[in-house]
Amino acid sequence: MIVIFLGPPGAGKGTIVSELRKHLDIPVIATGDILRNAIKKETDIGKVVKKYVITGELVPDEHILKIVENRIKEDDCTEGFIFDGFPRTLNQAQGLDTVFNKLNKHIDQVFYFDTSKDIIIKRLSARRVCTKCGTIYNLYYGPSNIADICDKCGGKIIQREDDKEEIIKKRLEVYNQETLPLVDYYQGENILTKIDANGDVKSIFMKLWDRLVELDIIRKDGS
Ligand code: AP5
Repeated sequence: MIVIFLGPPGAGKGTIVSELRKHLDIPVIATGDILRNAIKKETDIGKVVKKYVITGELVPDEHILKIVENRIKEDDCTEGFIFDGFPRTLNQAQGLDTVFNKLNKHIDQVFYFDTSKDIIIKRLSARRVCTKCGTIYNLYYGPSNIADICDKCGGKIIQREDDKEEIIKKRLEVYNQETLPLVDYYQGENILTKIDANGDVKSIFMKLWDRLVELDIIRKDGS
């Protein structure tokens, strides 16, 4: 199974991916997480991409395509994977098509998590993340039991630098300009499912699950 999670920042892609991982043993390739990890470890690529990530700009396509091409060739990706936050430009989508042609792979479905601007801003400004295990919290919708401490690992919970109001606005602008055109691109390929992502996590997850079953990508029991 190869699926893409597409949608604005704050649509809940990362949250739904975590839910899906509870049922399916399949790797998630989240370019945002890969980049933040590289920045934290101060690797060569981390130093290059930092200025884009913290200001809400997109990292240049050539870096992203290289990261993704290397990652999908790893052993754990042979049975499939989920892309979260990639591709994000037409150029990345076309680059992915080229790589997939070479590797004889195809995209099963693109899930577009459609969300209103008000909800995005409310979710993102209240998002908090564990610095140790990456668990996502939300001050409104799902806070940790003890303020600033992760329920799962005891790590410190922080606000992402790019979740400050001004940067959220920038990310939304970039999304509308660069990423939204991918909806038409994949609709044209006839592989796009739009999911209304304004509701609660459980109902969004159920819509995704039912559609995966309907498309025969998974069986009802998740196998
Ligand atoms: P990335 O990390 O991919 O960020 P994003 O796409 O902006 O997505 P988010 O992580 O903000 O949102 P999400 O949809 O995953 O929401 P979440 O589930 O956390 O990218 C960061 C940066 O890296 C980019 O700006 C760019 O610089 C760079 N980058 C990454 N990929 C790139 C690429 N391909 N090309 C170029 N540059 C790239 O949910 C948000 C909050 O809402 C959480 O608190 C959660 O608890 C809550 N929540 C979620 N769902 C619900 C719900 N249904 N109800 C209530 N609360 C909810």
